[in-house]
Amino acid sequence: MTKIVVTGAAGNIAYSLLWRIAAGDVFGDEPVDLTLLEIPDAVRAAEGTAMELADSALPLVNSIEVTDDATKAFDGAEAAFLVGAKPRGKGESRADMLAANGKIFIGQGEAINNGAADNVRVLVVGNPANTNAYIASKAAPDVPKDRFNALMRLDHNRAQSMLADRVGCPSRSIERLVVWGNHSDTQFPDITYATADGKPVEVDHEWYTGEFIPRVAKRGAEIINVRGKSSAASAASAAVDHMRDWVQGTGERWATVALPSTGEYGVDVGLVFGFPAVSDGSWQVVEGLELSDDQRTRIDANIEALREEAAIADKLF
Ligand code: NAD
Ligand code: LMR
Repeated sequence: MTKIVVTGAAGNIAYSLLWRIAAGDVFGDEPVDLTLLEIPDAVRAAEGTAMELADSALPLVNSIEVTDDATKAFDGAEAAFLVGAKPRGKGESRADMLAANGKIFIGQGEAINNGAADNVRVLVVGNPANTNAYIASKAAPDVPKDRFNALMRLDHNRAQSMLADRVGCPSRSIERLVVWGNHSDTQFPDITYATADGKPVEVDHEWYTGEFIPRVAKRGAEIINVRGKSSAASAASAAVDHMRDWVQGTGERWATVALPSTGEYGVDVGLVFGFPAVSDGSWQVVEGLELSDDQRTRIDANIEALREEAAIADKLF
């Protein structure tokens, strides 16, 4: 039995994510105990979500609990999706969300520190995701840092899909992509090592730097403008991909994972940074890639942006 916590359970992402978890898309055929954490004002709406989940009669669901008590929610948790946070509106940056959302991750980090299972895996989705994961990890000093990840798989999936469209193949043919850095406009979707059906990808340089990189980086804002709301089903799907790969492994296939740096590629220790990684149940950053001056410059811009966010986050403690 696996105890899984989803925060922001009454929200848009959770409305998609909970069903994917309950269908076995993350943990396989393992029965799950689901805990839905919300703020007091949204507990009733989360109860409605729980009622619908129950009405789905999904065979892997062992129990569903709704609570506004973080201590109770994280007690014994083996996996936590930290989704609950305010989404940005039109014209806002994800970093603007730090003031509104940062403190949430102190309380939840403390509750994880005090009660979660030793093998807990925490995936932060709420924005600004990288720095919120940094905050949660800082608030949980007894939990190994590598247990805190942030979601950059959505950026990876966006890049994979756009590149596949450009070269005329299905998304699944594209491998060895990475989105370095921060889940923000500075992120660097990097196709230097990318392959399509095992062969190196060749694209027009102007398209790569002038269209592809900025479009992937700004795709969240594009969705907000077109849809009128922040991405939800695609974010849930990416969270499923991330946690499934973490738990079940990737083999040789690269994923983009934002995780606390231990100094790889010159990134400050502790900053939660998007790297190429493979998993055999725990993530290992793909090391030893040679970087051009252009790659280095783009990666350094992300280090700088995350340093600035971390300095603001440190003041919340
Ligand atoms: P939403 O507004 O629909 O739902 C958020 C829910 O979180 C609300 O029900 C709210 O009551 C709840 N909440 C707020 N504070 C909480 C707390 N302390 N504990 C528990 N629940 C709490 O928003 P959404 O569309 O589901 O998005 C959630 C977050 O995910 C936003 O910050 C959004 O920007 C972010 N996001 C990240 C990515 C990514 O790739 N990292 C992608 C999409 C969205
Ligand atoms: C996304 O990338 O879709 C989310 O982070 C939402 C946003 O604010 O862009």
